[in-house]
Amino acid sequence: MSAISVSHLGKRFDDHEALRDISFDVEVSELTAIIGPSGCGKSTLLRCLNGLELFDRGRVRLGQITLEMNDNGQRELQTQLRHLREEVGMVFQSFNLFPHLTVLENAVLAPMVVKKQARSVAEEKARALLAKVGLRERMDYYPSQLSGGQQQRAAIARALTMEPKVMLYDEPTSALDPSLVGEVLGIMRQLDDEGMTQVVVTHEMRFAREVADKVLVLHDGELIEADAPEVIFSAPKDERTRAFLQSIL
Ligand SMILES: Nc1ncnc2c1ncn2[C@@H]1O[C@H](COP(=O)(O)OP(=O)(O)OP(=O)(O)O)[C@@H](O)[C@H]1O
Ligand SMILES: [Mg+2]
Repeated sequence: MSAISVSHLGKRFDDHEALRDISFDVEVSELTAIIGPSGCGKSTLLRCLNGLELFDRGRVRLGQITLEMNDNGQRELQTQLRHLREEVGMVFQSFNLFPHLTVLENAVLAPMVVKKQARSVAEEKARALLAKVGLRERMDYYPSQLSGGQQQRAAIARALTMEPKVMLYDEPTSALDPSLVGEVLGIMRQLDDEGMTQVVVTHEMRFAREVADKVLVLHDGELIEADAPEVIFSAPKDERTRAFLQSIL
């Protein structure tokens, strides 16, 4: 069974159709890159996958949890959304660490509050994950005392403490100084090697080409092409993919 299955997803903001009849699957352990011009719906799509955004039509299945907007009662929907959010780790462009908490405190908060873990258990796990992303020496620092790359690695470790089945990233490196991009991409590469299922909205085309198993191209709310990176970057079938790649490369 695939890790994520999206069928006929539709989402409208007032008179703007942000997502039009989108269907795709994400296989377990794969890294999927989502690319496309600004405003084409990448963030909206990602937010629908973790229940931050409700959609109007279609279905999202993540593991055993299915969100279907039409025929769920409100109460059932809320329960499903809560379960869904526990399965998904989300990393944003702007890190979103709590500024008044140290890196370690950022990382133990959700496991203690949401999963009711004892501090000792949560801390042991958080320390191991922070060490893994190269922050062993920085656990007691506040976010403002870290570089952007360190903050983003802390945000990734924090998401991993919840043991998500899937990690979603919305332009995780686009707020970073170019010299710090590599260290964040390196963590995602390492997670890929370990078999984590990841979906990444990115403008890092070299990364997408080298690491992604599949690339989804969005254009004006439509999924115009979904294929292996070799195909998307070397022989795209859709003229709009070609034009987009030409505009950014
Ligand atoms: N909350 C909202 N209310 C109204 N319109 C919205 C809202 N969120 C997004 N949109 C619109 O939906 C479309 C898709 O937005 P989205 O943020 O998903 O694009 P994107 O592909 O992530 O763009 P970018 O590359 O600039 O981040 C845009 O036209 C945007 O203006
Ligand atoms: Mg976006």
